[in-house]
Amino acid sequence: MNILKINNLELTYKNGHQAIQNMSLEVKNGMFGLLGPNGAGKSSLMKTIVGLQKPSSGTIEFNDVDIVEHTDYIKKNLGFLPQDFGVYPKVNAYDLLNHIANLKGINYKSERQKQIQYLLEKVNLLDFRDKEVHKFSGGMKQRFGVAQALLGNPKIIIVDEPTAGLDPEERNRFNTLLSDISKEVVVILSTHLVEDVKNLCSEMTIMNKGQILKTGKPKELIKELEGKVWSKFIENDELEMYQSSLKVISQQLMERQLQITVFAATQPEGFSQVDPILEHVYFNVLSQNK
Ligand SMILES: Nc1ncnc2c1ncn2[C@@H]1O[C@H](COP(=O)(O)OP(=O)(O)OP(=O)(O)O)[C@@H](O)[C@H]1O
Ligand SMILES: [Mg+2]
Repeated sequence: MNILKINNLELTYKNGHQAIQNMSLEVKNGMFGLLGPNGAGKSSLMKTIVGLQKPSSGTIEFNDVDIVEHTDYIKKNLGFLPQDFGVYPKVNAYDLLNHIANLKGINYKSERQKQIQYLLEKVNLLDFRDKEVHKFSGGMKQRFGVAQALLGNPKIIIVDEPTAGLDPEERNRFNTLLSDISKEVVVILSTHLVEDVKNLCSEMTIMNKGQILKTGKPKELIKELEGKVWSKFIENDELEMYQSSLKVISQQLMERQLQITVFAATQPEGFSQVDPILEHVYFNVLSQNK
């Protein structure tokens, strides 16, 4: 079992912006979801874990090794798929993986060949090994990104919004691949897609403004809301009135009528009870942090 421990982590950028505030977290093998709106600090946290930036204070340990100090240890054991991979050079998939494998310190050619062959097959890109990566579709690029992250058999894999921009089929394929990998290693996934977290993650945290607001198992967090979520169809111009008197956690236009969902300990008049879903958890937690 691998374990990542983050304790009282703080990160303040040079311009004074505090992107991570007093964050503590423990992550074990399996898929861990980091959920939060734009600017919540997900990428900042991930870049700090992978060692691209130093925290202002606090500790990060992986398998009891201080990885802020011992960056070699994390480099050897980590795979990272950044939110923005940048520009791909004009080389084919095989050669690029070979180059990255070299950088990762896989020194023997036969070992590199073995791993690259295995990974290209795993991410379904073997037929495209001679194609230049910059000509790949978005989904193929993301699967290539997973292959490069998996070189060197890492024990922890960090993927920053990997399914943004993928069509539903590619998204499914990608998610299945990740979930398969996460059986033996720590996978930390950031996303704004609540549904992906529900389907994939055994543990999750909701963060905003650099702080953790809630951590737990998706199923248990949903259970906490049972009997407290209500909905009603209203007229468009009634929304403000409801917002001022109730905690509205979502609103959805259904055939020109507005359906609002609210969080309340007891049944508000005219509302009917609905089964809570993870999206309710997410918006409920965020609405407490406005
Ligand atoms: N290098 C930097 N210097 C200064 N501020 C930064 C820097 N990088 C990020 N920030 C700020 O830190 C906050 C968190 O940004 P971050 O990119 O970590 O959020 P995020 O949760 O990944 O958002 P998104 O969902 O849009 O990717 C934002 O307010 C952002 O503007
Ligand atoms: Mg980000």
